[in-house]
Amino acid sequence: MLKPFESERLLYRELLPSDAEAMFEMDSNPEVHRYLGGNPTQTIEETRRIIEMIRKQYIDNGIGRFAAILKETGEWIGWVGLKLERNVNGHETFYDIGYRLRPEFWGKGYATESARAFVDYGFNILKADKICAYADESNKASRRALEKAGLKYINTFDSDYLKKKMTNVRFGMRL
Ligand SMILES: CC(C)(COP(=O)(O)OP(=O)(O)OC[C@H]1O[C@@H](n2cnc3c(N)ncnc32)[C@H](O)[C@@H]1OP(=O)(O)O)[C@@H](O)C(=O)NCCC(=O)NCCS
Repeated sequence: MLKPFESERLLYRELLPSDAEAMFEMDSNPEVHRYLGGNPTQTIEETRRIIEMIRKQYIDNGIGRFAAILKETGEWIGWVGLKLERNVNGHETFYDIGYRLRPEFWGKGYATESARAFVDYGFNILKADKICAYADESNKASRRALEKAGLKYINTFDSDYLKKKMTNVRFGMRL
C-alpha cells in the first residue's frame, strides 16, 4: 500500500475500486477528453479495468496515479501524480507527471498544486533523476500548470498513439 500524503488543500491516496463511479462520471465527459484524443469512456466497466490496471502499477512500479481529495469537503476531484512511462519521444523509461480533474474543480490551481507536490514526491521519495510530462500543444491549462511546477519545454513531437484517433501534437518537458 502506497502511503497517502497531502499538500495545502489536497490529500493524495491510492485509487480504489470504490472511486469507479466518480471517475466514470469524469471520464465519460467529452470536454474532459478534448485534448486526450477525443475518446471518452463509454462504460463503468472500462473505468473499473483502468483502476485495476493502476493498482497493478502500484505493485509492479511502486507508483501510479493517485486520487486527489479535497481536504475541506472530502470530495473526489480527480486523479493526479506520477506514472512510470516507457518509450515516449525518445525517452526509454521515465516518471511522467499528469492530472485529470472533474470540470467543476478546474481553474482553482489544483493541477498546479498537485504537480508541485508530485515533483517533490518524485525527487524526494522515488529518487527520480528526471521527471517528464507531455500535453497536447493546445492544452494551455495543462502546459501552464507544468511550467508553474518547474518543468521546461523541450520540443514538440507527433504522438503515434493519439494520431491513430485524431491528429494531435504533444510536447515534452523536463526539469
Ligand atoms: C488540465 C487540467 C488538469 C488543469 O487543471 P486546473 O486545476 O484547472 O489548472 P490550474 O487551475 O492549476 O491552472 C493552471 C494555469 O493554467 C491557466 N489556465 C487555465 N485554463 C486556461 C485556458 N483555457 N487557457 C489559458 N490558460 C489557462 C490558469 O490560469 C493557471 O495559470 P495562472 O496560475 O498563471 O493563472 C484540467 O483542465 C483538466 O483536468 N483537463 C482535462 C484533462 C487534461 O487535459 N489533462 C491534462 C492532460 S496533459
